[in-house]
Amino acid sequence: MTTHRIAVIPGDGIGIAVTKAALSVAQAALPGQLAPTEFPWSCDHYLSTGRMMPEDGIATLRGFDAILLGAVGWPAKVPDNVSLHGLLIPIRKSFVQYANIRPHRLLPGVEGPLRTSAFDILCIRENTEGEYSGAGGRVHRGTLDEVAVETAVFTRTGVERILRFGFEQARKRSGRLASVTKSNAQAHSMVFWDDITRLVAADYPDVTVTSYHVDAICARMVMAPDTLDVIVASNLFGDILTDLGAAIQGGLGYAASANINPDRSAPSMFEPVHGSAPDIMDQGIANPIAAIWSAAMMLDHLNEPDAAARIMAAVESVTADGIGCVPGAQTTDQITDAVLQALS
Ligand code: IPM
Ligand code: MN
Repeated sequence: MTTHRIAVIPGDGIGIAVTKAALSVAQAALPGQLAPTEFPWSCDHYLSTGRMMPEDGIATLRGFDAILLGAVGWPAKVPDNVSLHGLLIPIRKSFVQYANIRPHRLLPGVEGPLRTSAFDILCIRENTEGEYSGAGGRVHRGTLDEVAVETAVFTRTGVERILRFGFEQARKRSGRLASVTKSNAQAHSMVFWDDITRLVAADYPDVTVTSYHVDAICARMVMAPDTLDVIVASNLFGDILTDLGAAIQGGLGYAASANINPDRSAPSMFEPVHGSAPDIMDQGIANPIAAIWSAAMMLDHLNEPDAAARIMAAVESVTADGIGCVPGAQTTDQITDAVLQALS
C-alpha cells in the first residue's frame, strides 16, 4: 500500500471550504493512504508575514507527491498580481507543470446554457510560458510618456512539449486534436506554433489535427461543442477558453484542473478553475464539485485510477439525483456528504 504525501494549500476565500471537502472525499476513496500536510499560504499569510509563502516554500513543496490547492487571491487585501505571482504562478513554473488539463463536460443532472449537452472537451493549456512569461516592464511611471511592455515568450521546447502532450491525449481519446493560435494576426509566435504543430503531427499520423484561430474556436465551443475533443492552446488563450469551457459545463463550480509535470521530476498541482469568490465566502454554499473532481485527477496522477474513478462515479450519481446542480440549493457540506455517502 502506497502512502501519498499531499501538500494542501487551501488559500483564500472559498478555497478553504472546497479544499476541505475535496480532501475528505479523496481520503475516503483511499483510506489511510494519504498523508496531508496543510500550509496556511494565502493573502492573510501575506498580511502577517509580507510573503504569500516562505522563501523556502518551493523547496518545501518539492518533497511532496502532489499539491492540492483551493484558490488564491483576495483583491481587497492584496493586489491580485502580487498574490498570484507570490504563490500560484511560481509553483506552476518552478515545478515545470507545463500541461494544465481542464475537462469540460456536463455532469448528469447539470443543465448547461447550450442547446446541446453532447460534448466532452479536454482543454490542454500550456502552463509555464507564452503570455505568462513575465518578460516586460514599465518605464516613465506616472508620466504621459509611460510605457508598458509585456512580451509573450514561446520556446521550441515549450511549444513542442505541450503539443506532443496534446497529441498523446488525442490518441487516447477520439483521435481529434484542435490546435489554437491567432496566426492570422500574430505572425511570429503563432505562426511558429502552427509550424511546430505540423512538425509534431508527422509523428501522429493516427491523429487528425485542425488548427483554429482562438476567436473562431470560441464561437465553435458555443455553437458546435460536440465537434471538438482535445484542444491545445497557449497559456492565455487556454486560460480564456477554459472559463468558456466552465460556462458551457454549467459554471465554474464544475470546472476542475490539473497542473501536470508529465516528467514527474517535481510534484503536480490540482485545483479547481474557480477563484476565491470572497462574495460568497462565509455563506457555506460554494460548490465543492470542481475541487472534488480536481482531487480525483490528483489520485489518477498518483497511479490510483480506481479510486479516481470511484470518486467520479460518486459525483455523477449525486448530480444525477439533482444534488449540487442548482447554485445554493444545497450547502457545501450537504453536497460533500452526499458524495461521501455515494462512495461508501
Ligand atoms: C486560472 C486562473 C489564473 C490564471 C489566475 C488566477 C492567475 O485564472 O487558473 O485559470 O490565469 O492562470
Ligand atoms: Mn482562469
